[in-house]
Amino acid sequence: MSWHPVPDAAALARALTAPASAVPVRVAGIPLVLTRGDDGTLRALSNECPHQGATVCRAAEHGVASLECPNHYWVFDLTGTFQGSRLALDRGRTAPPDPAENLREHPCRETAGFIEVQLQER
Ligand code: FES
Repeated sequence: MSWHPVPDAAALARALTAPASAVPVRVAGIPLVLTRGDDGTLRALSNECPHQGATVCRAAEHGVASLECPNHYWVFDLTGTFQGSRLALDRGRTAPPDPAENLREHPCRETAGFIEVQLQER
């Protein structure tokens, strides 16, 4: 499986310098959201909601702890793990772990100002 360069990686790397950031991007036509959590780890996640396929992140966000799908308000942490729906979370309920409801993670690496993603088959 080959590595795909992320377009405009230098600008993206700058946008992701702060922790708790998320930036939507397309790599080889695949919608992804790059995140950098509080631990500084860069991740490439699918930007298609596992519920009904809506775009989860539509614009760059900074200082966020989670991503929220605008369609039915499913909430994911910056590692892509499904936390529950906004309505349930607001009532103090979290979802039981279910990998099928997480945003799929693709391997990514950052070297010399470039970001590359290894796209995984569905
Ligand atoms: S499509 Fe994302 S919560 Fe329904």
